[in-house]
Amino acid sequence: MRRKLAAGNWKMNGVTASLAEVDALIAAHPTPRSEVLLCPPATLVGQMAARAAGRIAVGGQDCHMKAAGAHTGDIAAAMLKDAGASHVILGHSERRADHAETNAMVRAKAAAAREADLVAVICVGETEAERDAGATLEVIGRQLYDSTPDGATGANTVIAYEPVWAIGTGRTPTLEQIAEVHDFMRSELAGRFGAAEAGKIRLLYGGSVKPSNAKEIFATSNVDGALVGGASLKAADFGAILAAL
Ligand code: G3P
Repeated sequence: MRRKLAAGNWKMNGVTASLAEVDALIAAHPTPRSEVLLCPPATLVGQMAARAAGRIAVGGQDCHMKAAGAHTGDIAAAMLKDAGASHVILGHSERRADHAETNAMVRAKAAAAREADLVAVICVGETEAERDAGATLEVIGRQLYDSTPDGATGANTVIAYEPVWAIGTGRTPTLEQIAEVHDFMRSELAGRFGAAEAGKIRLLYGGSVKPSNAKEIFATSNVDGALVGGASLKAADFGAILAAL
């Protein structure tokens, strides 16, 4: 059985004072049924990990594909690990758009993450124009294949399906649309890594998840949790989402 995962992506939000939300979350949910992961900006990874003391997992939002070197402003996977992270989000559509990240770059970053013993949370998702053109599964299939390194397992990889048009918009796909993509991703992973291993890789849905829609999304076929943006910033909202898992 795959353990459910409630993951929060703080994006470019949060300063030291925001860590009070982590204390509040842990106090309200000391023994959650699901695994809980928060990915703050890099400046807070070390402090959040120290504060959480293993009660929730902490992750980065990106890492470089190289292990070290002359890359001003970048962060290596091993540095995140050293700061206390266990996971790293890779290939988020905001990074693909803002930093021209390609599938090949995401794949190289995921390999670097694995080298540093971090779980890669690899994001895929179609734009609204791609969905309207009927190209959703084709786009997802290509992103999934090209962004995921060989040797992906349930222990080193999580996939997050985040339709670009659902991120921060309050719009979500229908449950049928989510199920169609998640079932498709499961079968694509099975074709590549074998049904047994593919059955262990968690598939998260992300895009306007909130307390009011979490339960029905989590009950959808092949949805093993969520990658939550805005609603992960406040302990009350994120707590309500993880309680729905
Ligand atoms: O990575 C999570 C994200 O992109 C979804 O954001 O604010 O729509 O929950 P949001």
